[in-house]
Amino acid sequence: MTGPRIRKGWRTVRAACSAAVLAAGLLMAATSPSQAVTQGPCDIYAAGATPCVAAHSTTRALYATYGGPLYQVRRASDNAVADIGPLGSGGYADAAAQDAFCAGTSCVITALYDQTGKGNHLTQAPRGHFPGPAAGGSDNVANAVEAPVTLAGHKAYGLYVAPGTGYRNNHTTGIATGDQPEGMYAVLDGTHFNGGCCFDYGNAETSGNDDGNGTMEAIYFGDNKGWGYGSGSGPWVMADLENGLFSGVNRGYNANDPSITNRFQTALVKGGPNQWAIRGGNAQGGGLSTYYSGVRPNVPGYNPMKKQGAIILGIGGDNSNGSAGTFYEGVMTSGYPSDATENAVQANIAAAGYSSAPTGTPGSLTPGSRISLRATTSCCTTGYLRHDDTDAKVVLSTLDSSSPAAAKAAATWTVRAGLANTSCLSFESADAPGRFLRHRNFQLYLNADDGGGGFAQDATFCPTPGNSGQGTSFQSVNYPAKYLRHYAYTAYIASNGGSNSWDSATDWAADTSWLVQQPWG
Ligand code: AHR
Ligand code: AHR
Repeated sequence: MTGPRIRKGWRTVRAACSAAVLAAGLLMAATSPSQAVTQGPCDIYAAGATPCVAAHSTTRALYATYGGPLYQVRRASDNAVADIGPLGSGGYADAAAQDAFCAGTSCVITALYDQTGKGNHLTQAPRGHFPGPAAGGSDNVANAVEAPVTLAGHKAYGLYVAPGTGYRNNHTTGIATGDQPEGMYAVLDGTHFNGGCCFDYGNAETSGNDDGNGTMEAIYFGDNKGWGYGSGSGPWVMADLENGLFSGVNRGYNANDPSITNRFQTALVKGGPNQWAIRGGNAQGGGLSTYYSGVRPNVPGYNPMKKQGAIILGIGGDNSNGSAGTFYEGVMTSGYPSDATENAVQANIAAAGYSSAPTGTPGSLTPGSRISLRATTSCCTTGYLRHDDTDAKVVLSTLDSSSPAAAKAAATWTVRAGLANTSCLSFESADAPGRFLRHRNFQLYLNADDGGGGFAQDATFCPTPGNSGQGTSFQSVNYPAKYLRHYAYTAYIASNGGSNSWDSATDWAADTSWLVQQPWG
């Protein structure tokens, strides 16, 4: 077993008696004015006699008294690891500690710690089966800076699952098995999803295989229509019950499961003997809606359930790893939570104050801001860097105020902290989120992040004063002699003289110097 080192012996003593928890939370508030919260979601579940048996978050403590580690990061420069904790018991994540530890290099999230004390941590999953046959090795782990967020003004990071990324624990304690009742919720980015199988959080096979209908019970989020779907074009919250993403009692279509439009989505699934439900709501406020509540699906194999009690995040029960999504927090409970308990948890989530990370000043090289990049070479001073209509090649294209909106959008980039070096930058397409400017064979393309270290390197550029003395140049982090250049109206990374045609010394300094401008889109 070569998983990452998990810090042992981190134990938090908390009220064992659920009835005492509310009072204990208030007592803490009275005696400790700096306490961030008087109740966390798991205090609420405990008070409802359906206690958390797994609790994971990169953004905050999920018990008022929890002060242990939230997650572990590993940095690329020396493979050192660090635990990131909350800012005091019950508090928000200490993102500044991550930023300090990862400065000048990149970090991945190697573990999500279980806050319940049961040791149900999530670590790197084995290599997935889908698409294609199972391969050796492991899934990717998440880049630690790719999902910035704020909670009540505090900076934090979500866990960004690019296709290929996954976490799992096949050796759990206290998670429901067989037909035992359980509940679960997750707070997710409602705008980051795909149709791959399967962005899940919840109960799955301890074998890591598809062990048949009813051997898993997890929250699914995305727009996969292969098994089930709801109204509109998605994405939907569904339940992954194995060999089926269920949006209601029927396989396939269930009209009551809505398409999700919230930036932050609370997603809930619960299941017990011939009873289950899907619920959801806006994690920034308002109540929960019940998308389904009733008997098990009218398809053989799901009643009674045969749950096995592993925990998955970002993958399917059989390790299928084609999906994308972002996870901020989630728990699993023992027992079937009441709607009232879940409604109180939703209020707690809303009070946590999830909000998008600051957008930065438009036209500046600040992570979060939107920019357009204008050429400076005398041929081409109305030319801007854009991805072409096939969304793959990156070209220089003339734009003015009367250009079509689609062309303007394709020439607009969201500045991100560098995927391979947080002191440098990456450029995410404004109209194709999740796709980044990257070089391959020294030409630039717009590709989806695959979560791997090679992609991160190819998509990271370090800004320097313009090579011509004008504007800004962007140095490739893995080929430092090469800079972002246009050549024959196509974009490359190029050195000042070299073996490729686009390394031509003629106009190299001007071709590699760019003006960072107000975004077109
Ligand atoms: O149920 C949908 C998916 O089917 C499961 O997540 C996976 O195990 C299987 O491929
Ligand atoms: O673009 C140069 C290299 O070409 C990239 O690092 C790699 O992805 C490809 O082989």
